[in-house]
Amino acid sequence: MSFSAFWVEKNEDGFSRSVVERELDDLPDGDVTIEVQFSTLNYKDALSATGNPGVTRNFPHTPGIDAAGTVLDSRADAFKAGDEVIVIGFDLGMNTPGGFGQRIRVPADWVVKMPAGLTPHSAMLLGTAGFTAAECIDKLESSGMNPDSGPVLVTGATGGVGSVAVRLLSHLGYEVAAVTGKASQHELLQSLGASRILSREEATADAQRPLLAEQWGGVVDTVGGTMLFNAVKSLRYGCSLAACGLVGGAEIPATVLPFLLRNVNLLGVDSVQLPLAEKARIWDKLAGPWQVDLASLEQPLSLDNLSPAIDRILAGEMVGRGVVAL
Ligand SMILES: NC(=O)c1ccc[n+]([C@@H]2O[C@H](COP(=O)([O-])OP(=O)(O)OC[C@H]3O[C@@H](n4cnc5c(N)ncnc54)[C@H](OP(=O)(O)O)[C@@H]3O)[C@@H](O)[C@H]2O)c1
Repeated sequence: MSFSAFWVEKNEDGFSRSVVERELDDLPDGDVTIEVQFSTLNYKDALSATGNPGVTRNFPHTPGIDAAGTVLDSRADAFKAGDEVIVIGFDLGMNTPGGFGQRIRVPADWVVKMPAGLTPHSAMLLGTAGFTAAECIDKLESSGMNPDSGPVLVTGATGGVGSVAVRLLSHLGYEVAAVTGKASQHELLQSLGASRILSREEATADAQRPLLAEQWGGVVDTVGGTMLFNAVKSLRYGCSLAACGLVGGAEIPATVLPFLLRNVNLLGVDSVQLPLAEKARIWDKLAGPWQVDLASLEQPLSLDNLSPAIDRILAGEMVGRGVVAL
């Protein structure tokens, strides 16, 4: 049985993108075959689609680190045909054909049952980006953050992770400050719940100083680099920053001083290899008390208009969540 898939090929001029027909037999061996209804576009998918070897080594390839849909066939007892499921992370879309194809086949221990309260569409409006925003907030709260800790800073605020983090924090009763490079998107950020907006320049000013004025009760950082460490230097005593991204750089201009003098914490956040039980716990929160309306963030995409959207996300111009209808 054939199905459509986004297809990235390596050639003499670099990497080309097209939509092709593939066969179920082309998919790797695995426990669960899934009809993908929705996927999402993440920054990492754009890296895969442009041949970044840190994400994808083997081409031709179908990216898509996220997928939600219906089980077609399962040899694992935990799943049966017709079950609605979510797959994010692990190797999906990296070196395993991903959610930018209408079918995927994966190991059972990558698959989460759709929690009541979410649908394939709403789960992918969140996708890895929204899930990671929730994981950051969950980890910050586990480290003591609460709405009385002080305002929470979100960097890269109009991006996938950032925009969901702003919305979710505001829903949970936090005062939210958002860093954005997009002067045109202040209204969107305010509508999501940001009460203060900082420019990237403000968020990276005075980088040579060892400590900055104590402001933040927590930080969700998607940017890395100077912005990350300026935020660490601006944490209130005992508070924490959750680091999940590197769009502004992988290196951190750091000293140990904020840790020694302000008792602050730098928390790492990974959504890819997070054990399945932990993934299911976070999805349950997102389906229940952390359920938020993200309709204003949706950028509807299909396989046919995915390629220009990949260029936009690489250029840092994407706003909100690109949801790919398969
Ligand atoms: N650890 C994990 O498991 C995990 C999971 C998901 C994502 N991530 C990482 O998190 C990051 C964000 O992912 P995403 O999907 O949200 O990407 P995205 O949609 O492209 O958003 C990134 C945002 O960062 C800002 N930005 C872009 N370039 C910048 C620069 N040079 N300096 C400062 N700000 C910049 C932009 O927002 P403004 O214009 O509003 O500033 C942009 O919209 C990526 O590095 C991604 O790989 C990690």
